[in-house]
Amino acid sequence: MGHSLRAAALLAFVVLSILVSLLISSVQQFGGRISHLTNATRAGHEESASLRGALIYQLNERRREIVPLLLLHGGDGDDDAGGLPGESRLSAQHGQPPDPISDSSVWNEIAHGSRAARLDEMGCDSLVDMQAVEVLGSGYTKLVVKVNLAGGQPVALKLVNEKGIDMSKCVEDFKDPHGCRELVSYKLKKELVLLQRLQHPNVIKLKGHCAGEAEKGRLTVILEQGAPLQMIQLLQSPWEDRFRVCLDLVRLLHFLSRSPLGSVALLDFQPRQFVTVSGSLKLTDLDDASAAETPCQTDADCGLQFPHRNFSLPCSSRGVCEDLGEKRNIYNAYRYFFTYLLPHQAPPGLTHLVDHIMNSTGELKADINETVEAFERILHLYRSGLHLDNLPPSVFTDYTVMPGTGASGSVDYRCWPSYSQQGCVLSVHSAREAAFICSSHPQCSSFTLTGQKTWTGRLLASFRSSSAQLVPDEASEVYVKKTERPAV
Ligand SMILES: Nc1ncnc2c1ncn2[C@@H]1O[C@H](COP(=O)(O)OP(=O)(O)O)[C@@H](O)[C@H]1O
Ligand SMILES: *[C@@H]1O[C@H](CO)[C@@H](O)[C@H](O)[C@H]1NC(C)=O
Ligand SMILES: *[C@@H]1O[C@H](CO)[C@@H](O)[C@H](O)[C@H]1NC(C)=O
Ligand SMILES: *[C@@H]1O[C@H](CO)[C@@H](O)[C@H](O)[C@H]1NC(C)=O
Ligand SMILES: *[C@@H]1O[C@H](CO)[C@@H](O)[C@H](O)[C@H]1NC(C)=O
Ligand SMILES: [Mg+2]
Repeated sequence: MGHSLRAAALLAFVVLSILVSLLISSVQQFGGRISHLTNATRAGHEESASLRGALIYQLNERRREIVPLLLLHGGDGDDDAGGLPGESRLSAQHGQPPDPISDSSVWNEIAHGSRAARLDEMGCDSLVDMQAVEVLGSGYTKLVVKVNLAGGQPVALKLVNEKGIDMSKCVEDFKDPHGCRELVSYKLKKELVLLQRLQHPNVIKLKGHCAGEAEKGRLTVILEQGAPLQMIQLLQSPWEDRFRVCLDLVRLLHFLSRSPLGSVALLDFQPRQFVTVSGSLKLTDLDDASAAETPCQTDADCGLQFPHRNFSLPCSSRGVCEDLGEKRNIYNAYRYFFTYLLPHQAPPGLTHLVDHIMNSTGELKADINETVEAFERILHLYRSGLHLDNLPPSVFTDYTVMPGTGASGSVDYRCWPSYSQQGCVLSVHSAREAAFICSSHPQCSSFTLTGQKTWTGRLLASFRSSSAQLVPDEASEVYVKKTERPAV
């Protein structure tokens, strides 16, 4: 009820503002013709007026991008449009009409609605007495700082990157740092709205925002803290962790293909737009996300171009390119993530499924539904150990189990990719799989299951050579090769 009223009020404002801006622009043209300026000052004025005009044009374009996102309502009755703050300094100062997108009363009204509906949303007061720890990252547009709030809670703050490419290019073009900050901050505002609309386990969690009252165009977005994605480090991690990142990505793309905003394409798709939070992948850079459809007349209008591959998609009877955003996301996932993370060291019983995914995503033969199903199937097989069906049963009988014992001792032999730097620690489905692995390592004479588990629920097994010492340990058990005797 309150929601539809608010939406109606917003719409009314939009219509009104279009009328007012038409009126104002005709007055301005008239004013231009009757001005009595000398040539020199006129030239100067004309130049700065045209720069200002261009900047105002850009600002309006950015606002126009956000409006449809505000007016769209998510499926599950959510609804606060989030309170985009601050009126436009630039347009206010230069006599532009108060327009709904920048009029603070509208934003504030929306913000209050949302604040009341959502108690977990942090505002400016939560930033009082915070401690900045370090810079987490920066890009063309934004700067991200690691912060501990007064209560000790760790968060990440996103701000406009004053030294970023976006700011410096804008200042170079328009020579107006204040106007530019306002322009660039629209990207952050758009991201804020998208973060509210696109809530998902694989999208960074929005904790709140603070719009500076004193200075317009200042916006701080408060996010859950993550760790920037380190591709190099990930390449050296166990397959299970690399698979997790790919699975999370596919689940995210599945959600984006049918999001509350429609099918959303990530136009700037790069590993650096993601972070990890406790091992799971989360999208953090959303300012280049787009829910726009591509109009077309023929299939030729629906080309999808990548550096090493071009695709052509069908133009639907509705006159839009069918699933263009979804396919674009899938191919980017393939070229930036799957090719690096998925095939390498995949478990032998799963390689045919992994190869199938590589081919169907690399050729865009599967849609996102089929892709997410293929990933979930791999997860199911891997978790349940069904992919291990043809392990030789005999190896397991070669080991003696010693319950209530653990192994201790100095650094043991290493393997790759191990969960521990100190020795050979791998994930296994069962003691039987561990026995199989131990038998395939010449140095291995025993292994320990400690009860520790990985994210899939598989067990961590520590493999050792004969130098292992046995110690009492309720939670773990040691399996010793029958042909060898441990030093006790
Ligand atoms: N919540 C977060 N936790 C940790 N690091 C983050 C977080 N959000 C972003 N980052 C880091 O900050 C960088 C810049 O943020 P991003 O939103 O991508 O800005 P830009 O739009 O300028 O590229 C990212 O590449 C990422 O490494
Ligand atoms: C002003 O410019 C016009 C043409 O642009 C020129 O004819 C005129 O002489 C100029 N006047 C002065 C005062 O410079
Ligand atoms: C993709 O298409 C572009 C433009 O049509 C062309 O220049 C390029 O060579 C093509 N690339 C490949 C790999 O086919
Ligand atoms: C997919 O498989 C076909 C047939 O084996 C092969 O020609 C093609 O190169 C593969 N594509 C990718 C992206 O792996
Ligand atoms: C994908 O699955 C959703 C339901 O999860 C369904 O509504 C949609 O039609 C499917 N898309 C395709 C292309 O099959
Ligand atoms: Mg980025």
